[in-house]
Amino acid sequence: MKIDEGTFDKMPVNLQKMFCKVQKDYEEAGRVLDEQSGWSRSTKGKPRKSTSSGAGWGMTATGAEYEDAGGASRFFYCPKVSSKERNAGCETLEDKDWKMDGAAVPQRADRPFNPSKNNHPTVKPIALMEYLIRLVTPPGGVVLDPFLGSGSTAVAATRLGFRWVGCEKEADYAEIARARITSAEDELLEDL
Ligand SMILES: C[S@@+](CC[C@H](N)C(=O)[O-])C[C@H]1O[C@@H](n2cnc3c(N)ncnc32)[C@H](O)[C@@H]1O
Repeated sequence: MKIDEGTFDKMPVNLQKMFCKVQKDYEEAGRVLDEQSGWSRSTKGKPRKSTSSGAGWGMTATGAEYEDAGGASRFFYCPKVSSKERNAGCETLEDKDWKMDGAAVPQRADRPFNPSKNNHPTVKPIALMEYLIRLVTPPGGVVLDPFLGSGSTAVAATRLGFRWVGCEKEADYAEIARARITSAEDELLEDL
C-alpha cells in the first residue's frame, strides 16, 4: 500500500502510527507470499473493442495494464470466502440459484444448478472487511456501506463493536444480510 508524503503528513498522529504498523505487516506478508509464488510475467492484454465503462472486465482501451512481472504480491491477494462463512446464519432461508445484478444467472448445460442459501455473487471475506474497517474507522466511528449486498461489512463491523449503517436495494439480499448480521450478534452474546 502506498500513499504520498503530503497525504501522510495530513493524517492524525494515531492514524500515522497505525499506517506504519499495517505497512510493516503488509510488506512482510508480501515477502512471504512472493517466496511461495515465485516470479511470473503478466502478458500484455488485447485492447478491448468497446470504449464503454465496465466492458472488458477491467481492461481499458490500451490493453497494457497487466504487462508487468514479479511475485504474487503485486496483485491484491485475498482467498475466496468459504461456504461456511457465506451461509452462516442463513440456515432457515431457502436454497436459491446464483443471481447477477438481481437477475437469475441463465441456466447452461455446462453449469449445473448450484443452490446456496446466500446466493449473492460477490460476497467479501469477513476478515478482509474487518481489516479495512480497522484501517479507516476512528474509535467510536460509524461504518457506512451504501451497497451492503449480503452484509459482510455489517457483520465485520458488528464483530469489531462498531455501529454501522447499510443500504441494499434487493430485498432478497437484504434478507440474507439480516440473517448473517443477526447470527454475528448472537455469536457475540454467546461469548459474553
Ligand atoms: C458488490 S455488491 C456488495 C457485496 C457485499 N460486499 C457482500 O459481501 O455481500 C453491491 C450491492 O449493491 C447493491 N446496490 C446497487 N445499487 C444500489 C443502490 N442504488 N442502492 C442500494 N443498493 C445498491 C446491489 O444490489 C449489490 O447487492
